[in-house]
Amino acid sequence: MKKRETKIVKVDAENIEEEIILEAGNIIKSGGTVAFPTETVYGLGANGLNEKAVGKIFAAKGRPQDNPLILHIASKEQLKELVEDMPEVADKIIEKFWPGPLTLIFKKSSIVPDKITGGLSTVAIRMPNNKIALKIIELAGVPIAAPSANTSGRPSPTKASHVIEDLYGKINMVVDGGSTGIGVESTVLDISGDIPTILRPGGVTYEELKLLINNVEYDKSIIKDDENIIPRSPGQKYKHYAPKGKMIVFSGDIDNIVSSINNLTKEYIKVGKKVGIMATKETRGRYSNGNILVVGSRKNKETIAKNLFNTLREFDNLDVDIILAEGIDTIGIGRAIMNRIIKASGNNVKKV
Ligand code: TXA
Ligand code: MG
Repeated sequence: MKKRETKIVKVDAENIEEEIILEAGNIIKSGGTVAFPTETVYGLGANGLNEKAVGKIFAAKGRPQDNPLILHIASKEQLKELVEDMPEVADKIIEKFWPGPLTLIFKKSSIVPDKITGGLSTVAIRMPNNKIALKIIELAGVPIAAPSANTSGRPSPTKASHVIEDLYGKINMVVDGGSTGIGVESTVLDISGDIPTILRPGGVTYEELKLLINNVEYDKSIIKDDENIIPRSPGQKYKHYAPKGKMIVFSGDIDNIVSSINNLTKEYIKVGKKVGIMATKETRGRYSNGNILVVGSRKNKETIAKNLFNTLREFDNLDVDIILAEGIDTIGIGRAIMNRIIKASGNNVKKV
């Protein structure tokens, strides 16, 4: 792959320097790649209607070609030309959740390139709730294709430094807008069929959707640990968000989790392994061996979502051989957090 010069610029979302954003918009317009913050994670953007530009995203990330991308838009008007039809339910969902961490799957129109959809007849679209992202999309004047701005298989980036770690020299620009707020990716909701179906849990919870549309369901692959179910969202089948060390997730009663982690930590240390423990604010004091990192508070799971990917990267920096991670409940944002933790472990879950 051709080595690129990556320009890094800082932008304050509350006081956006028009000139910098204009440059980012121009790079995208002319077929280049720009990483920018959204409210969920950083995205790696390119002109979504230009196959060659979209190809640069796959190359920079090392992403499998059959894993489709999300198109990011800045206004509802942009949606019309991208979709074949607007399901009845779409309007009220958009009204309530856009801009925001909800990606919708529609039947695609003919202007959406196959490279975006991985050959599927549907397209994923979202309007991010981040002033910098919205401004870049507006100035680029095209829908922006943007997967998370990490190397494929690594934890998603929640800070510009994560993007730089993975993609420096492979993309044209990084717009540093500080840490992202939510920390896990958008919820992917398929509204192209009869029953609105959650293909990936994320920033908008099942409970929130259920309040608005009564018949919403989870794709079976999300609620069952069944290897035989083929996920409908192609991205869900890959090992994802993976830290370098081996990882085990403990699920069950919190007292059992803590004592299992403590016992296993001692055993691993005895055989010379470097152990990382992903703890929570409430349990931190109950561990004494190993490299203990607090991911957030069980009483405020949003803090866990926000810090999760950064914590996984910190374990990598500590060079641990194994990460022992506490599981949490799957209510609200907990579902998205557990989905990411379990994937990071490669489905290595220990029920205790
Ligand atoms: O929060 C987010 O959604 C971030 C920010 C940057 O917007 N983006 C993101 O993109 O997470 P990515 O590419 O890492 O994940 C997109 C997910 C993948 O699981 C992909 O398989 C799924 O959306 N997807 C895209 N198009 C689809 C389609 N037509 N049908 C089903 N799933 C689709
Ligand atoms: Mg991703």
